[in-house]
Amino acid sequence: MIKVGDTLPDATFTVMGENGPTTKTTADIFKGKKVVIFGVPGAFTPTCHGNHLPGYIDHADEIKAKGVSTIAVVSVNDVFVMAAWSKASHAEAIEFLADGSAAFTKAIGMSLDLTERGLGIRSQRFSMFVNDGVVQKVNLEENVGKADLTGATAMLAQL
Ligand code: BEZ
Repeated sequence: MIKVGDTLPDATFTVMGENGPTTKTTADIFKGKKVVIFGVPGAFTPTCHGNHLPGYIDHADEIKAKGVSTIAVVSVNDVFVMAAWSKASHAEAIEFLADGSAAFTKAIGMSLDLTERGLGIRSQRFSMFVNDGVVQKVNLEENVGKADLTGATAMLAQL
């Protein structure tokens, strides 16, 4: 699993642009910037939709007031699902990153096998504070059905 002091691996995410799906690299998102990123097991799943994402929406201004330029959520979902989740959540303050084939999630050691629950390979619930591509803080939720250690309030206390 990725740890404090590591540089994020090169990866490409799919994002929804004005004219449809497009891509962003880790350099596009992290180079020269302070970024908070949190990973979730799935768009619209109970804890992700009811607790984890709403916390970051509610606290986005406070997080950005600490010098964070981007708050991003990443999930092993396709870009259309991620765009629908953003729209349904009125989450304009958050950047939605689709890691549909789990390449980034696997490269940082955060994959989670939920095959037995019918979800396939997904992401652990995690949060990170990253400065210019280098991990400053990393938090892993022990219980995937909770968003305490990885929630916005816990992240704010670490910034
Ligand atoms: C949840 O969001 O609560 C959740 C997502 C995937 C697996 C288990 C729980």
